[in-house]
Amino acid sequence: MIKHVPVMAEECIAFLNASKGKTIVDCTLGLGGHTKELLNIGCNVISIDRDEKAIEFAKKELPKEAVLINSEFSKLREILDDLSISKVDGILADLGVSTYQLEDDERGFGFKGKLDMRMNPKQKVSAFEIINEDPEEKISNLLFEYGERRFANAVARSICRSRTEKSIETGEELLEIVKRAMPPKYRFSREHHWATPTFRALRMEVNNDLGELKSLISTVPDCLKNKGRLAIISFHSMEDKIVKHMFRDYVKKGIAKVLTKKPILASKEEISLNPKAQRAKLRAIEIL
Ligand SMILES: C[S@@+](CC[C@H](N)C(=O)[O-])C[C@H]1O[C@@H](n2cnc3c(N)ncnc32)[C@H](O)[C@@H]1O
Repeated sequence: MIKHVPVMAEECIAFLNASKGKTIVDCTLGLGGHTKELLNIGCNVISIDRDEKAIEFAKKELPKEAVLINSEFSKLREILDDLSISKVDGILADLGVSTYQLEDDERGFGFKGKLDMRMNPKQKVSAFEIINEDPEEKISNLLFEYGERRFANAVARSICRSRTEKSIETGEELLEIVKRAMPPKYRFSREHHWATPTFRALRMEVNNDLGELKSLISTVPDCLKNKGRLAIISFHSMEDKIVKHMFRDYVKKGIAKVLTKKPILASKEEISLNPKAQRAKLRAIEIL
């Protein structure tokens, strides 16, 4: 198995108040990092992932006790109903894309390979359809909304001009098109890759990441026991904003109390071992 270190695992266990015998849902199985930690301390774990590859990995790598479900986490209530479980003790979500998805060129999450980006390959619309069929204004709006603030219009124009000659099929082609829409001076001055906001915006649109997150948080009060806990790790400011506001709303309505006044960040030691952890923000609530 690929060597994999789960982000803020100790903090997740602490905020979930996870211990032997408790039932915890890991909404984002991925490479099974958090699920393994929870199993190690004796929790009963139900692990969900909409990517069947994650489920296949886990079947080979995880102990048989893990209950593996190939589905969207927005369907948590239905998943628990199917398992005849009324409420659980804890729910964890470690959002975003996993290393195995990013590094597989056939999945098209990175700058290489076929334009796809679907976490659930059975879903109809992939990045290819959005890039090759959606109107320019829609592409520009989604790029802007998800974070390509400065060049959304220029990138959308460049995409639509290019696709009149031939359809855009690969990450490499899209990268070149994005490059043409940005002045070299801007590209050279970026700390992070200049195309990341465009690719990330597309990925979030293809997978309805924000819609999934909102549905999950909405269904949590129906799925957690009294004093049950929800912990969410996000890597994007828009996701963190949704988590913060929806948690605040639960506090106002007397449904939950917030356990993390400010988001919890990974320690310097963890970031030095796993640079991805630098962007991670953990927030947690307890149901009243
Ligand atoms: C950052 S990874 C999780 C890594 C995992 N915690 C670990 O330690 O290995 C996110 C995973 O969640 C899955 N995922 C993302 N959004 C999902 C959703 N709405 N429903 C189900 N799974 C989702 C992705 O397919 C991916 O495998």
